[in-house]
Amino acid sequence: MSELLYVDACVRGERSRTRRLAAAFLERYAQRRPGDRIRRRDLAARRLQPQYPEILAQRDALWAAGRLSEPMFDDANQFARADKIVIAAPFWDLSFPAILRIYLERVSVVGITFAYDGEGEQRGLCRAEKLLFITTRGGNFSAPEKSWMELGAKHLEALCTVYGIPDFQLLYAEGLDDVRTDGGAVLANAMERGRTLAESF
Ligand SMILES: Cc1cc2nc3c(=O)[nH]c(=O)nc-3n(C[C@H](O)[C@H](O)[C@H](O)COP(=O)(O)O)c2cc1C
Repeated sequence: MSELLYVDACVRGERSRTRRLAAAFLERYAQRRPGDRIRRRDLAARRLQPQYPEILAQRDALWAAGRLSEPMFDDANQFARADKIVIAAPFWDLSFPAILRIYLERVSVVGITFAYDGEGEQRGLCRAEKLLFITTRGGNFSAPEKSWMELGAKHLEALCTVYGIPDFQLLYAEGLDDVRTDGGAVLANAMERGRTLAESF
């Protein structure tokens, strides 16, 4: 039995098209692997505080004392232990919503999700072999002339290297707010791609 961690950063909740895209993937995944456990972490429901000075100080003190099992590190420990990870977040301001950034700051803990070896080289400690990022975008950012401005998927792909997750995958629908695009058709197409992806994920 595998454990899939689903991190939901779809701020608009039931109105979120990203969440609908993720649901298409997860529904098919659950059908195909009934024995697997899907753990959902809803970032809008159980909220994390940004690492303000006092929170960072508390974290540093716990870390220095080697107390890595404290609740402060629950998200990092859960992330490190998951067999597979799916993150769903809309494209906001060329990246993703701040609630996901705050979550990632909590996940990035030396000694839990990554470490440094004796030579000072960084190495990942996460068990997951793959991470799927699901996103929807108002505009088109996969075209070569605009792709450099897309900083959400790139950020997560880079973090996968830090965490030691070798296989980064991306499922997206874009141009959903562009008057030249049939957003409904684009989303339906992406949902179908998501179902196909779920067969082998
Ligand atoms: C706060 C905010 C920021 C956004 N920033 C961008 C952006 O930089 N580029 C873009 O193409 N679309 C942007 N959008 C549009 C969303 O990417 C698009 O509507 C997406 O499908 C929303 O996903 P959702 O339905 O899951 O909330 C933004 C939307 C919001 C609400």
